[in-house]
Order: sequence, then structure tokens, then C-alpha cells
Amino acid sequence: MSEGVISSDSANNGALQGSAQVSNALDQQATLKDKFSSLFSNAMENNPYFAAGGGLMVLGTGLAIARSGLIKASRLLYRQMIVDLEIQSKDKSYAWFLQWMSKYPQRVSKHLSVRTNYVQHDNGSVTTKFSLVPGPGNHWIRYRGAFLMIKRERSSKMLDLTNGSPFETVTLTTLYRDRHLFNEILNEAKDIALKSTEGKTVIYTSFGPEWRKFGQPKAKRALPSVILDQGIRDNILNDVHEFMKNGKWYSDRGIPYRRGFLLYGPPGSGKTSFIQALAGELDYNICILNLSEGNLTDDRLNHLMNNMPERSILLLEDIDAAFNKRAQSGETGFQSSVTFSGLLNALDGVTSSEETITFMTTNHPEKLDPAILRPGRVDYKVFIGNATPYQIEQMFLKFYPEEESLCNKFVEAVTKRGITVSTAQLQGLFVINKDKPEMALQMIDTMLKSPDNF
Ligand SMILES: Nc1ncnc2c1ncn2[C@@H]1O[C@H](COP(=O)(O)OP(=O)(O)OP(=O)(O)O)[C@@H](O)[C@H]1O
Ligand SMILES: [Mg+2]
Repeated sequence: MSEGVISSDSANNGALQGSAQVSNALDQQATLKDKFSSLFSNAMENNPYFAAGGGLMVLGTGLAIARSGLIKASRLLYRQMIVDLEIQSKDKSYAWFLQWMSKYPQRVSKHLSVRTNYVQHDNGSVTTKFSLVPGPGNHWIRYRGAFLMIKRERSSKMLDLTNGSPFETVTLTTLYRDRHLFNEILNEAKDIALKSTEGKTVIYTSFGPEWRKFGQPKAKRALPSVILDQGIRDNILNDVHEFMKNGKWYSDRGIPYRRGFLLYGPPGSGKTSFIQALAGELDYNICILNLSEGNLTDDRLNHLMNNMPERSILLLEDIDAAFNKRAQSGETGFQSSVTFSGLLNALDGVTSSEETITFMTTNHPEKLDPAILRPGRVDYKVFIGNATPYQIEQMFLKFYPEEESLCNKFVEAVTKRGITVSTAQLQGLFVINKDKPEMALQMIDTMLKSPDNF
């Protein structure tokens, strides 16, 4: 029995043991848990590495939230309070702005780049001027009490295809309340730039599809220094003035506001010189296209004529070239040049809101198709010939102002020989005989024999 008891005991025992084992296991689990938590809290409290990590985690999350908030806030602030203005290098005001910056060296920071300017004086001599302009980078300036940040950036990848220079931008940034300064700066820059060409004629010529300044602005040539036959100069001048006064008349009648002039005659008679002097007189710039240049195509001509710099006279030289090409264009194909119809279309298609004054020159009027002489294309046509006695006299007196009697002899000597001399030849003769009018008189025959020398 006892065995049984024992056995039952043992069984009980076993059961007890079993339950003791379970509770033991539970106990153990509990203590494990306790241990873990105490280990954790122990580690957190006593182990500096864990404590720091936890702290950092909380801090990091906090900061990240704060940071995104700050970014949002600063963006909002930026949008609300900051304005910027971007000027691209292809815009006209870009060069003006850089020049403006160079006038204020104290405003320019440490990153500079150099811009070289030639200045032609009225006597023709040239001096070179270096101006320091802000280089790529950030610059801070103070202008009329406000702070401005100027950022000049150069794109290393993008090239301005029309002139091969790197594409650049300048960005001006300032506070919203100072935004009116942008306009003031641009106007000031424009005034400075225009002042540097005051009293000068800027000559533009085509460079690919765009107009480019040809050399430095030239001192204006005085109109009376070009000696045309009596009345020609004043008649053209009156006509141009009359045209320029009548913008409203044209627009009221829906007529394109343009006028075309054709000067034709032998080489060296002063056509080009006169038109340049006229541009100076009117305070206009001049855009010159030479139609005998092979690289000018119809498309380009049209584009250029419709995108002229403001206040410019268009000068189309050697327009007979367009008429030569008409005969050729069918067979050649590789000779890309302006065609007759291309020229007519370009002349008819000029859509400028401003007045358009076009001067055309040719040495071969007989080659022109009568279609070009239609009003609206050529409205005024005038022959500029070789020197007339009046012109010979005026040219002589221009070079030797006090030599009236020698002048008469000179005119007589030339006319007696019944020869034709161009005004350019006369100029050549007088230039090599500076201050020696008698020599000029003696050399008439030399001039006749080899007119090409002059
Ligand atoms: N009538 C003139 N009065 C003053 N100078 C003149 C005159 N004609 C020619 N010249 C001088 O001769 C040179 C050549 O003149 P210009 O180029 O104006 O001639 P052009 O008629 O345009 O010739 P081309 O038909 O060959 O183009 C210039 O240096 C210019 O000063
Ligand atoms: Mg000429």
C-alpha cells in the first residue's frame, strides 16, 4: 500500500513535482523577464552607450521634424520676402549690368574677371581699357541702403551656339520690399552703356543668324565731310526727316512704315560713307549686310531684317548680287546666297513696329530687276556718280582750305582733260600730298595713268 501510497505519493509527488516544475518554469520566465527589463533599464541607466543612443534617437527624430518645418518655413519666408531677377547672357541688359558692376569696384568682391574695351577717340586713336567685372560666384553689394546678392553662374555644358561663348546667367536677389531696385539698376546700367556710345555710330554686321557689333562704336562722321553733287545730300536728308515725322500718317492708312533708298553709281563715289554719316546725323546705328557675301542665305536675310537692333538703318550693299544668283541658282545648288525672290520677300516682309529705313547700294543698276524698284521696296533712287567739277572743288578745299586760286587751277586741269575721277581717287591724291596742294596739281596725270593706285 505504502508502495501504492508511495506510488500515489510518488504519483502525487510526481504531480506535485510536475506542477512545481511548471510554476518553476513560470517563475523562471518571470525572472527572465525581470532580468531582461532590469538588464535593459540597467543598461539604459548605467551603460552610457545605450543611454546616448536612445537620447540621440529621440533628438534625431525631433530635429528631423524641426528641420523639415524649418525648411518649409524658410521656403515660405523666401517666397514671401525674397525676390530674384535672372539676367541671361543672351539678353542685351547682361553686358550693361556687368559694365554697371565694374563702375563700382568697391561693390565687387574677390572673384573678378576682366573685360577689355577699346575706346576709339575722335582723332581715330585707340586706347585700351580693362574693366574688372564680377567673376562667377556670389557677390554681396549694398545699393541704396539695401543688400543685394549677385550670383554669376557659368554653364560648363551649355554653349551659346550663336557665338560659342559659355551660357551665363546673373541672378540678383534682394528683399521683396527692395524689388524696385531691380528696375533702377537696369535703367542706370542702360544709361551708362548708352552714354559710352553717345556721339558714336555703332556698326552692326551679321554673325550667323544674329547682329553683332562690328568693332567699337566709331566717332560719327560729319555729314558735310562726304561731298556729293549739289543738292543730293539735302534732298535725301529732307526726305528721311519727312518720313520720320509721319509715323501716324502711315499707321492710320495701314501702310508699312518703311522707306527704301537706292544709291547707285561707280565704285568710290561715297555711297557707303554717305549712309554711315547720315546714320550719325540722325543718331542712328547702322546694320550692314553685304549681299555679295556667299554665306548669306534667304532665310538668314529675312531673319536678320526682322530682328534689327533698335534705332538702326539697314544698309544692303551690292544688291545686284542677288540678281546674279537668280540665273545661277537653278544649276548650282551649293552656292548658298541670297536670291532675287529672297531679297524681295525680305524687303516686303519686314514687320517692325518702328520705322524701317533701308538703304541699298549697287555699282550695276542695269542688273537689277525692275521689280525691286517698285514703291515700298525702293521709294527713292539716286545716282551717285564720279566727281563733278563742284565736287572736285569742294574736295580740294576740304583738304587745302586756303588755296582758292590753286583750287580753280586744279578743277580746270581735271575738267580740261575730260577724264572721270572718283571722289575716292581724289581723296587718295590729297592724302598722299598732305599740305602740298601744288604737288596734287602736278600729280593729276599720274593719277590718270594709274587710277588703281588711289
Ligand atoms: N563723295 C565723297 N566725299 C568724301 N569722301 C569720299 C567721297 N567718295 C568717296 N570718298 C572716300 O573714298 C573712300 C571710299 O568711299 P565709299 O566706300 O563711300 O565709296 P562707295 O561709293 O561706297 O564705293 P563702292 O561702290 O565701291 O562700295 C572713303 O574713304 C571715303 O571717305
Ligand atoms: Mg560702298
